[in-house]
Amino acid sequence: MSEAHVRRVAVIGTGVIGASWATCFLARGLDVTASDPAPGAEAALRAAIAAQWPAMEAMGLAPGASPGRLRFCATPDRAVEAADFVQENGPERLDVKRALFAALDAAAPPAAILATSASTITVSEFQDACPRHPERVVLGHPFNPPHLIPLVEVAGGTATSAAVVDRALGFYRALGKHPIHLRREVRGHVANRLQAALWQEAFHLVQAGVASVADIDAAIAHGPGLRWALLGPFLSLHLSGGPGGIGALFEKPLWQATEGMWRDLGRVSVDLALGARVAEGVTAELAGRDQAELIRQRDALLLELLTRKGRAGELP
Ligand SMILES: NC(=O)c1ccc[n+]([C@@H]2O[C@H](COP(=O)([O-])OP(=O)(O)OC[C@H]3O[C@@H](n4cnc5c(N)ncnc54)[C@H](O)[C@@H]3O)[C@@H](O)[C@H]2O)c1
Repeated sequence: MSEAHVRRVAVIGTGVIGASWATCFLARGLDVTASDPAPGAEAALRAAIAAQWPAMEAMGLAPGASPGRLRFCATPDRAVEAADFVQENGPERLDVKRALFAALDAAAPPAAILATSASTITVSEFQDACPRHPERVVLGHPFNPPHLIPLVEVAGGTATSAAVVDRALGFYRALGKHPIHLRREVRGHVANRLQAALWQEAFHLVQAGVASVADIDAAIAHGPGLRWALLGPFLSLHLSGGPGGIGALFEKPLWQATEGMWRDLGRVSVDLALGARVAEGVTAELAGRDQAELIRQRDALLLELLTRKGRAGELP
């Protein structure tokens, strides 16, 4: 089965991430079955998809795409029984993932891929709960919200087959996503580890009294964040290296100073006092702005950026 031919996707767990994935799959013209035990889950899912649909229309729908292609099922078993691809988004708890994957493995067709959105739990920790086909369990970790953000981190566990990793990468690519392949499992995957490194230093800078919360936010949002949205850290460095690129950069004195800074970075725990200081700083930075309005503004700009980036297809 070619991944361009996945027609039926099951979304298991329809909270923040599952609902957003459902919108993404429906917008690509796929049939979606979904399941979640929470009271009112179906109504909440349909409301989330309706709220997210205008953004999907703005980005362009696949032929035949419709929220009407969603079917809500009472149990995960029913949702996956005819699925080609399963995207699991239950709570981030190992016992829940183990029980859920045991049920999915028992009920899904043998050729179906079972992907998890798990943020911190690795596939190797629970794929032995799938005695039928542990080789078809794979990480497909999105970046919130998955209906907008292209990144998906794909990694196999110790029992995952290379073919399944390739098929998962192909499926996400066919959706228009930008999957990356983690060659080995690591806690937190790649993108959240990179964010964690930055957050650690951001909290440290507040604690050390170097700058206000608002100015530290500005240092990213009005500085390197603008370039990082277009090119990653290594290509940005490459362009900073002048005609010789990144290779020449490592020969320059500035590089020694940069590495020196690494050894000076802070290690910090967010205790009550630091947490309160940062929260106060955020309140001051917001200056009474409405949170829902801020989200709306951010998402509108994000949509424009994604559309422009899509058109500028030449960027790596
Ligand atoms: N929130 C994020 O930014 C983010 C980003 C990437 C990945 N993730 C991962 O996605 C997964 C879901 O996170 P979330 O933020 O959507 O959480 P959430 O709490 O919003 O949603 C979890 C959903 O799972 C449902 N659920 C509980 N038991 C279930 C079961 N047995 N079968 C099916 N559904 C069940 C709950 O009712 C709830 O609706 C987690 O593994 C998380 O680590 C989250």
